[in-house]
Amino acid sequence: MEYTALRNGVKMPMEGFGVFQVPEAAVCEQAVHSALAAGYRLIDTAAAYLNEKAVGAAIRKSGVPREEIFVTTKLWIQDYGYESTKKAFQNSLDNLGLEYIDLYLLHQPVSDYYSSWRALEELYEAGKIRAIGVCNFYPDRLADLCLNAKIAPMVNQVELHPFFAQSGALENMKEFGVQPQAWAPLAEGKFGIFTNPVLTGIGQKYGKTAAQIALRWNIERGVIIIPKSTHEERIHENLNIWDFSLSKEDMDAIADLDIGKSQIIDHSTAETAKFLNSFKIHE
Ligand SMILES: NC(=O)c1ccc[n+]([C@@H]2O[C@H](COP(=O)([O-])OP(=O)(O)OC[C@H]3O[C@@H](n4cnc5c(N)ncnc54)[C@H](OP(=O)(O)O)[C@@H]3O)[C@@H](O)[C@H]2O)c1
Repeated sequence: MEYTALRNGVKMPMEGFGVFQVPEAAVCEQAVHSALAAGYRLIDTAAAYLNEKAVGAAIRKSGVPREEIFVTTKLWIQDYGYESTKKAFQNSLDNLGLEYIDLYLLHQPVSDYYSSWRALEELYEAGKIRAIGVCNFYPDRLADLCLNAKIAPMVNQVELHPFFAQSGALENMKEFGVQPQAWAPLAEGKFGIFTNPVLTGIGQKYGKTAAQIALRWNIERGVIIIPKSTHEERIHENLNIWDFSLSKEDMDAIADLDIGKSQIIDHSTAETAKFLNSFKIHE
């Protein structure tokens, strides 16, 4: 496993394991158990995934020392606001059964996120969180937060895969010293990614699958990846990307796959803002 250093010096694994859309506790716990046994050292959950308890149980039972596991969780919009953020953070800690979180992220760029950000800054300064960041902040929102926050975000987790490469967003993150992290690095299985001829063709050269080529492509761009799978063989497959690199020619061919927009969720629309604000995870 390779690591990168965040702006504050905290070391973060370049590859982790995501657990979005794994709400069933037994399935989630088994998947995280398999991921830790396979060698993943970053687990990416969220209050909104409703599986923090299962993630915590798998971590405790894994036998891997706590300090070797980088745990990320996220604050949902319903809990945005200064006081409610602190309460929701404690709730996530309790669910996970942990004393601290390695990376705490604002899940969405809507609602009162400045108040929440102030709470995150304080929790970070109090040593409860080792790094703080955001998700889904397109360049305008990220620049604005970086310019106005006391502590700028250290990570921005956004949709990044060969069909939505977001090169401009990466440039913007670089300018502000924000580490990019890819959600849906396998495009959530969309666009025929696993049989795409460009990806499978490149894969043949290295004895790798299309999934492995897509994951390695983000690594070559300095982007942290967190693929999700509940299948043992895929959990191993997705980690088996550290013994080869892509050439400039490969990278150029993959760049041509970019369609320049999301077909999963577009955070610049009013519909998305309405949908996100209406999505509740508790009473
Ligand atoms: N911050 C945010 O707003 C946000 C949004 C979305 C996701 N995320 C995070 O990012 C993580 C990854 O994104 P994601 O889960 O949406 O999508 P993803 O990792 O791009 O794709 C997951 C899908 O690909 C399948 N898959 C995985 N490896 C495969 C392989 N080697 N061959 C064939 N199929 C494979 C999985 O199926 P099986 O499970 O059946 O194997 C699943 O259907 C999430 O789990 C979550 O932690 C964050």
